[in-house]
Amino acid sequence: MIYLKTDAEIDQMRPAGELAGELLDMIEAHVKPGVTTLELNDIVHSFTTKRGAISAPLNYRGYPKSMCTSINDVVCHGIPSAKAKLKEGDIINIDVTPIVNGYHGDSSRTFFVGSVSEKARKLVEVTEESLKRGIAEVKEGARVGDIGHAIQSYAEGLGYSVVRDFVGHGIGKVFHEDPQIFHYGDKGRGQRLEVGMVFTIEPMINEGNYRTKVLKDGWTALTIDGSLSAQFEHTLAIRSDWTVEVLTLSPRQKNGGLKA
Ligand code: MF3
Ligand code: CO
Ligand code: CO
Repeated sequence: MIYLKTDAEIDQMRPAGELAGELLDMIEAHVKPGVTTLELNDIVHSFTTKRGAISAPLNYRGYPKSMCTSINDVVCHGIPSAKAKLKEGDIINIDVTPIVNGYHGDSSRTFFVGSVSEKARKLVEVTEESLKRGIAEVKEGARVGDIGHAIQSYAEGLGYSVVRDFVGHGIGKVFHEDPQIFHYGDKGRGQRLEVGMVFTIEPMINEGNYRTKVLKDGWTALTIDGSLSAQFEHTLAIRSDWTVEVLTLSPRQKNGGLKA
């Protein structure tokens, strides 16, 4: 069941989206060789609580930390740990979801740790561009399959694969609502987009096979072949006049234009 939002409700969701963007702008300076993912988690957690906001991941279905940190072949849902120290050449996705006014704002980016290989840089750039191409499909008359097709045809055309096991999602007072937003699919198929929908697009793109496996911790998803994986995520809203608002655009992204 899809909870459609009024323009007034979308306005109320804006602060959560803005905080998500701000958190990602803020954390980027801390992503350096030698820092642990637990340290990054704690920085994001205290920034969030200082704003009077709540970290949605903490205790969500038993998840133990305040955000997800997914390094190299981790596709998503990596758990911050004192044992996970970043090293030069790593790529790391940081996924944050603050709750403000009772509403969730969900966004992630993949960062470089120091300087990275050419192939890692290319993967991250293609993943960011695939999110932008997905967002560009959100318009009157479109369907979820249009979003998936734009992402899949672009990424596969460059020799990458699109993860199937995790999808974008409706979002509001509930973290994960309907509809599901597939990052692969066929043009003109699937759920029709409607005024009042608020959802994420969050493609995970792999260098190798799209298949994933989950570790015994019940969360950490890895590529099955050990290849690198990257992800970018934004939360979007469709207002009553069909204006598409990217709620999680950060201060930096607003200044520099729409960067994922
Ligand atoms: N933020 C993730 C998403 O984009 C969900 C994380 S659930 C958690 O949907 F429990 F792992 F935090
Ligand atoms: Co999400
Ligand atoms: Co997320």
